[in-house]
Amino acid sequence: MPLPPGLAERLQDPSLHAKVMGADEAAALIAVGANVGMSGFTGAAYPKAVPQALAARLAALHAAGQTQARIGLWTGASTGPELDGALARAQGIEMRLPYQSDPTCRQQINAGHMLYNDMHLSHVAQAAWYGLLGHLDVAVVEVTGVLPGGRLIPSTSVGNNKTWLDQADQIILELNLHQSLALEGMHDIYHGTHLPPHRQPIALTRPQDRIGDPYLRFDPAKVVAVVVTDQPDRNAPFDPPGEVSARIAGHILAFLQQEVRLGRLPAQLLPLQSGVGNIANAVLDGLNQGPFGQLSAYTEVLQDGMLAMLRSGKLAFASATAISLSPEADAEFQQNIGFYRPRIVLRPQEISNHPELIRRLGVIAMNAMIEADIYGNVNSTHIMGSSIMNGIGGSGDFARNAYLSIFMTPSLAKGGKISCIVPMVSHHDHTEHDVQVIVTEHGLADLRGLAPTQRAERIVQQCAHPRFRPALRDYMARARRSGAGLHTPHLLDEALSWHSRYLKTGQM
Ligand code: COA
Repeated sequence: MPLPPGLAERLQDPSLHAKVMGADEAAALIAVGANVGMSGFTGAAYPKAVPQALAARLAALHAAGQTQARIGLWTGASTGPELDGALARAQGIEMRLPYQSDPTCRQQINAGHMLYNDMHLSHVAQAAWYGLLGHLDVAVVEVTGVLPGGRLIPSTSVGNNKTWLDQADQIILELNLHQSLALEGMHDIYHGTHLPPHRQPIALTRPQDRIGDPYLRFDPAKVVAVVVTDQPDRNAPFDPPGEVSARIAGHILAFLQQEVRLGRLPAQLLPLQSGVGNIANAVLDGLNQGPFGQLSAYTEVLQDGMLAMLRSGKLAFASATAISLSPEADAEFQQNIGFYRPRIVLRPQEISNHPELIRRLGVIAMNAMIEADIYGNVNSTHIMGSSIMNGIGGSGDFARNAYLSIFMTPSLAKGGKISCIVPMVSHHDHTEHDVQVIVTEHGLADLRGLAPTQRAERIVQQCAHPRFRPALRDYMARARRSGAGLHTPHLLDEALSWHSRYLKTGQM
């Protein structure tokens, strides 16, 4: 059968021409109960057709009474509605890992209908290699092109694709014609990761270093289907920076300037890592207007704010595992891809988030959180202790190993009913030992070098909303007087009462 026009240029391995088929046919090759490793990191480069076809098939099986018709779903991180949303709506996921941010997934996890293994993103590949996650049956990976000799031009994210392609028994490729062939050369796939005790130092000393080659490798004999798609990535546009985000950004900028003045940071700072979301984007916007130049990024996701900084020249280079852009920013990126290609490198997530490299480079990590407690412990994942929001993502990889680890949040949530600074976090993701700076719109608390009780004074004074400061101070004073140990004084019966009060009365 002749290939559709233009496809031969993208699918340069003639042995795979006979494997081109529709999404339904390809999805039928995935067995119920299989573990499936899919591409995708944020809304970038997730497969867009096979998951929907698989969801339709699983939904039909459920309707026919096979209520256990599910798969295990492994990805790089969150994906888009055509993947997580479609499979969750079909009740088709038994176990999800390592990260999600989809409303239907979240609802199903919190309702107890879906299991979720929320993992540090740098840990996933090694856990898969050790067999800790089970056997990987199928890889479904979006690519930009297929080259002869078992090479793939990756798409807009790399994530765990290298591991999925290596480990899976069968491979389904989604060849997305929408992704620009000009992406070729932007990736750096490191093939030298070994398991202990055979690990070697990873020879990367600057964000722009290349330590691998531009292509994913695969065994063509494992390919059971090639599905052609032509669809854009899907990432939500950002809100224009609001007042709270702008104030948080202002505090961080002033702090970084102070650190340069004190000689603790070089004038071009250290490589930046930025979490995703509106606050992170506002910080990047602030940096783009600010005094620093010749900046670099060693981060997980390159979002609109970093693209704008590359364009303005404030950011000289960015290393990431995904390019995750709003439709407007994506249109600009596609138009000027020749400008961006020498300034961006996309790596596997075990390298973009690698503790050895984050520590060596001295990354400045800036991540959002749900709440912090007076001693500097941070909750990034759970609402009221029990319900998952998204997951830890890469925040732990960066926070633990960064030169400077910053967490930020508005001081209030839920229309002012909740204080994001509390006596004790209702769930623990980043301990007081990994958190150096906390920022809200009210101020910035630099916790470095402080003992717990000093931290508590500073966090309440600088970061808590003024309306909640008296109650927090009252808690601290009573905890000190209570006869509890004076290193980290707590009233254990009362420590989480703020959360239970909110659950009972709707007001903290
Ligand atoms: N108590 C209860 N709920 C809270 C809360 C608190 N202290 N703080 C925030 N929330 C709720 C908000 O009301 C909102 O709920 P809604 O969607 O029902 O309205 C939700 O949590 C998200 O809050 P929002 O202000 O929209 O935050 P965000 O989009 O900036 O996301 C995190 C914040 C922490 C959820 C997000 O950054 C995240 O998932 N982080 C973990 C992963 C990570 O850091 N990734 C980057 C690393 S590379």
